[in-house]
Amino acid sequence: MKTILVAGGAGYIGSHMVALLAERGYRVVVADNLCTGHWQAVKGAALRVGDVRDAAFLDRVFGEFPIDGVINFAAFSLVGESVGDPLKYYGNNVGGAVSLLTAMKNHGVDKIVFSSTAATYGEPEKQPIEETDRTDPTNPYGASKLAIEGLLKWCDRAYGIRYAALRYFNAAGANTEADIGEDHHPETHLIPIVLQCALGKRDHVGIFGDDYPTADGTCVRDYIHVRDLVSAHLLALEYLDRGGESGPFNLGNGNGYSVREIVEAARRVTGQPIPAVVESRRAGDPSTLIASNAKAREVLGWVPERGLETIIADAWAWHRGHPDGYGG
Ligand code: UFG
Repeated sequence: MKTILVAGGAGYIGSHMVALLAERGYRVVVADNLCTGHWQAVKGAALRVGDVRDAAFLDRVFGEFPIDGVINFAAFSLVGESVGDPLKYYGNNVGGAVSLLTAMKNHGVDKIVFSSTAATYGEPEKQPIEETDRTDPTNPYGASKLAIEGLLKWCDRAYGIRYAALRYFNAAGANTEADIGEDHHPETHLIPIVLQCALGKRDHVGIFGDDYPTADGTCVRDYIHVRDLVSAHLLALEYLDRGGESGPFNLGNGNGYSVREIVEAARRVTGQPIPAVVESRRAGDPSTLIASNAKAREVLGWVPERGLETIIADAWAWHRGHPDGYGG
């Protein structure tokens, strides 16, 4: 398996995937419409600018390269926005997946690694969350990803397209060697926001609620380094190539940190005060999301290597070096 199509490869996680594949000697083709991605983030790959919902565009890409497998990151991913505009999320996320799977079927490509999310679980019944736990998303973003997981299942049965649906917990960190990192507009994620405070670009971070049923009252999440995340995609691709069975896999470290613990850790790493102010809850936030990563460890042989300090230190190196993201 040599040539991999990375849809959405100019985005935050996709660009880290591209860097890893290139490092491992794969030939990489990126299809991205650059609506949220950055061409500067694509290192060591051929970039084809276009929308995955455009069948003619995909036909050209699949015709140009002998694609062996697909990794799909092309999606909108803002939970809050999805609640206000579900058609945008179903249209782009589900529509893009339908179009990509159609091109795969037409061009005889039979392996896909798909970026799914912990948001497919909704309000979890227990911690840590296992892949067999109930999926009941509480927002259209998570619902659009779960709908695609359903579609993948049927495409496996009908066309023999095998898949790994990787349910990410909270991706963070950066690849300091490849000089790529997180650059969202607007930024909504906790770690980049906290680091923007350390840089003096914001005067404080708002803590969204301190009355959750957790040890310090703030929400608990499972933060996973983006490089560990993409290494799981490569293992999943190799697993599918060996004939492995399709299914979902949680990708998290298996450790939970509260919002206050993140702010504290960022103060330690950066040496900056990072003022924090308690604000009201953000709609739709579950109190705790912690992954059981046992299945990914056992089936894929995945071992996440980077803990919270490394995640924050690498993100800090990226933000300090690129205070204005790829524009700076
Ligand atoms: N938070 C704050 N202040 C901020 C930003 C975030 O207190 O300024 C809190 C949130 O309320 C949450 C935690 O920090 O409790 C993490 O928030 P993020 O926005 O960084 O991440 P989420 O857990 O909301 O979202 C992530 C992914 C989504 C995915 C979701 C699954 O970014 O794509 O996990 O639940 F859908």
